[in-house]
Amino acid sequence: MIINQNQAKKILLSGGNVIIPTETVYGLAGSIFHPEAIARIYSLKQRPQKNPLIIHAATIDQILTLVTKVPKSFFQLATHFWPGPLTLILQAKETIHASITGGLPTVGVRIPNHQATLNLIKETGPLAAPSANLSGKPSSTRLIHLEKDFGINIPILEGYSPTHGVESTILGWIDSSWQILRYGCITKESIEQLLEEPILDSELPICPGKQFKHYSPQATLFCSLAALHTAEAIIGYENRNYPLSLPFYSLGQDTDPVAIAYNLFATFRQIDEDNHSKVWIDIDLPTQGLYQTIIERILRAIE
Ligand code: TXA
Ligand code: MG
Repeated sequence: MIINQNQAKKILLSGGNVIIPTETVYGLAGSIFHPEAIARIYSLKQRPQKNPLIIHAATIDQILTLVTKVPKSFFQLATHFWPGPLTLILQAKETIHASITGGLPTVGVRIPNHQATLNLIKETGPLAAPSANLSGKPSSTRLIHLEKDFGINIPILEGYSPTHGVESTILGWIDSSWQILRYGCITKESIEQLLEEPILDSELPICPGKQFKHYSPQATLFCSLAALHTAEAIIGYENRNYPLSLPFYSLGQDTDPVAIAYNLFATFRQIDEDNHSKVWIDIDLPTQGLYQTIIERILRAIE
């Protein structure tokens, strides 16, 4: 059910939940000041309690009310990439409810680049919001995915659908340097260019979400060429030829990672709608930039 900003504000300020559009994927939001709204996020998503939520703010000032201290380079990242698809993991203020942080001393924060959602957050204050999908399923990138997962009565803030199609990049401040905890829309290369230093991939199992299966369709996805003959359908690229006359799902041109990212989760969901059970996916792609995120998401769906 699509609602306007005023209706969304009323629901959130009285401890309810609203789905918000962001530039990456839809989020299932609750006010950080309403523990019952946070608890409902976990139950609606069937999400493990130990998987913390990220907090969405409208301004850097709001973010600074959530964290205890920030390194100098925080401001460099914040002014360059926000509003935008970058989540920073920082030391949390003790006032943040433990159900949001999963009991960790840290909290994930970002300023999303979507005007309708920013306008709402200016009115409500910060909103905790994981991706709006049932736990383990691909994130929702189109309106139709929301009804499928949460039914037709779930309130959805009006505004255009996500334009990126994969989630934000997560950086954590660990041992006095920034490390990547999750690949996302913002490339490692662009962060390295800004900070003028190499960014490491975090080796710690510090991103709790990584312990859980993710992004998977019901169908079994596989990428082994040797088993291609067992496939019922193929996910690949517009400009490539595939040997079999099977149902074909295009992610776009193989030279266009932005289009591939935009179509990826919607395609995972479509193969389930079409009741395919074994689907071959072409992962022969370059490995840098946004392709790195795409490959990571596909491999997690295959595992
Ligand atoms: O693009 C996005 O980031 C979307 C939109 C809605 O903003 N949100 C999103 O949230 O993807 P979610 O909950 O699906 O993924 C956030 C990830 C989870 O894997 C979680 O474990 C991790 O962030 N995370 C949250 N707080 C953390 C913390 N304090 N330390 C480490 N990882 C954290
Ligand atoms: Mg998620």
